[in-house]
Amino acid sequence: MDFAKRILEIQRIINNHNYRYYVLNNPIITDNQYDKLLRELEALEAKHPEMVTPDSPTQRVGAAPLTEFGAIQHAIPMQSLSNAMNDKELIAFDTHVKKLLNTDSEINYVAEPKLDGLGVELVYQDGIFQHGSTRGDGVTGEDITQNLKTIKAIPLKLRYGNNFIPSILEIRGEVFITKDGFNELNSIREASRENLFANPRNAAAGSLRQLDSNITAERPLSIFCYQPGTIEGVEFATHMEFLEALKKWGIPVNPYIRNIFGADEILKYHHDMESKRNDLPYEIDGTVYKVNSFSLQETLGIRSRSPRWAIAGKFKAQQVTTVIKDIDVQVGRTGAITPVARLEPVQVGGVTVTNATLHNQDEIDRKDVRIGDTVLVERAGDVIPKIVKVIIEKRPQNTEKYQIQNTCPICQHPVYRAKDEAVMRCQNLSCPAQIKGRIEHFVSRNAIDIDGFGEKLVEQLVNKNILSSVDKIFTLKYEDLANLERMADRSAKNILSAIENSKNTTFARFVYGLGIRNVGEHITKILDRHFNSDINAFMNSNRDDLDKIFEIGPIVSEGIVQFWEDSDNKNVVLSSINNGVNIAKPDL
Ligand code: IVH
Repeated sequence: MDFAKRILEIQRIINNHNYRYYVLNNPIITDNQYDKLLRELEALEAKHPEMVTPDSPTQRVGAAPLTEFGAIQHAIPMQSLSNAMNDKELIAFDTHVKKLLNTDSEINYVAEPKLDGLGVELVYQDGIFQHGSTRGDGVTGEDITQNLKTIKAIPLKLRYGNNFIPSILEIRGEVFITKDGFNELNSIREASRENLFANPRNAAAGSLRQLDSNITAERPLSIFCYQPGTIEGVEFATHMEFLEALKKWGIPVNPYIRNIFGADEILKYHHDMESKRNDLPYEIDGTVYKVNSFSLQETLGIRSRSPRWAIAGKFKAQQVTTVIKDIDVQVGRTGAITPVARLEPVQVGGVTVTNATLHNQDEIDRKDVRIGDTVLVERAGDVIPKIVKVIIEKRPQNTEKYQIQNTCPICQHPVYRAKDEAVMRCQNLSCPAQIKGRIEHFVSRNAIDIDGFGEKLVEQLVNKNILSSVDKIFTLKYEDLANLERMADRSAKNILSAIENSKNTTFARFVYGLGIRNVGEHITKILDRHFNSDINAFMNSNRDDLDKIFEIGPIVSEGIVQFWEDSDNKNVVLSSINNGVNIAKPDL
């Protein structure tokens, strides 16, 4: 057989197997047989490069990485859907459509799952895939053609069947990763210590927006198409006819799409899909209803950003029950104390949940959450899972109310809770959980302003136990700095001289740098004036002194009093002064 014929034949055979495997989910050859065909094609095309066409199965991978994505204008803007949050709003949608169409008859809708992936547009010219783009701002998207070509469910050439091939076919669809594909991808990433994707949607988005399409090719992406853009050369009367044509052209269409009538069937479809949701191999976050007739769609028209002829029905947030194994208390970089429930791991919509935030003591009290409780946990989209309620009937005997300790779990200093605030805080200047953040704030431009004392330097100095509190900055020696990674002799000297310069400072800068709760730049200036730049007087002030200051309210004074109650904080200030910090009197 001549090579030209053979090349076309293998291309056709491979395209057919792709279609059977990725679109029909019904492969008839093994992976090995498939690879053999692909290798034969690669070998023939290498010998006859003039025979390589853009729609050849060999052209899905191997493109050179891009430096940036180009822009693509959508011929018709990619709109979004308005949402119905519950049954009532779904019914209201149908009522509104009937009213606008001035009819009492049941409306014919197409009901579709709302896929939780990434909206894209594909453009075929005379049946050949030309380019594809992200939704972007709806008008202009990013050119992700190379990446889309790696998705084998997307035909590079439309199947002919008995259908006309449109000269232009623009279609919209959702690229997604299956729940299994997501778990597999994350376990590979875990093994190589890469950051894990939070959920399948993020994994799909991250994979599709790779400048190197060879990376995209390794990701298990798939697609379902659901919406027309511009189409030239073929006309459809209904949305369903359009979807049927897509299937015949070999473009994947979701198998749960149904032709339905009226509000009752909308609700039935919505509830059916909601109960199937966890059994589907991919994530959906709702359902979509589109008026089937294109002429009625036209009559109904569009609002500013979404059509009047369609609506998305959102599912309730995902909830599951599990058991609280323990409650840990975390200290944030700003001293905020947050209780976190450690859960018996559970799957919620494709994501394993092991922790849930309990926010603060009020929240714990309100829900009466205890260690050992069985709880209802909810994950809504990308947010941190939260505890909806305790299942009291399942509470084991001898549990106790949970109370956050009134000392910091990291440094054991007392924590305080301001009036009207739910959050407890540790105000210890030298608390190890906060020390990096505290130092960064202390040296920042509006505080004592040490030039060149950046985040990376703080990181190294704290990790090497050279710095454990802010006053130690003033006793840093040349060797402390010069021995650090990537620290040139010159930079070490520059930093030391910047530290020297910072020692001549002002009351306002120094106090601001201490990061006392609610004491910002404005308040430090008021304190400066009141205490006449005398830091000792400020340190020894009591509640009465502070309350007398006009412009300073009880919440601010409470934070100040609590800060100075910790004698270690006073010691840090005294030690700074002993080591050369000089607080200038203001220019009055
Ligand atoms: S139709 C004019 N159908 O949801 C209507 N969208 O807010 C255009 N989506 O950006 C969208 N499944 O990414 C449509 N069956 C479906 C969908 C769907 C998911 C996404 C799509 C769109 C967003 C709508």
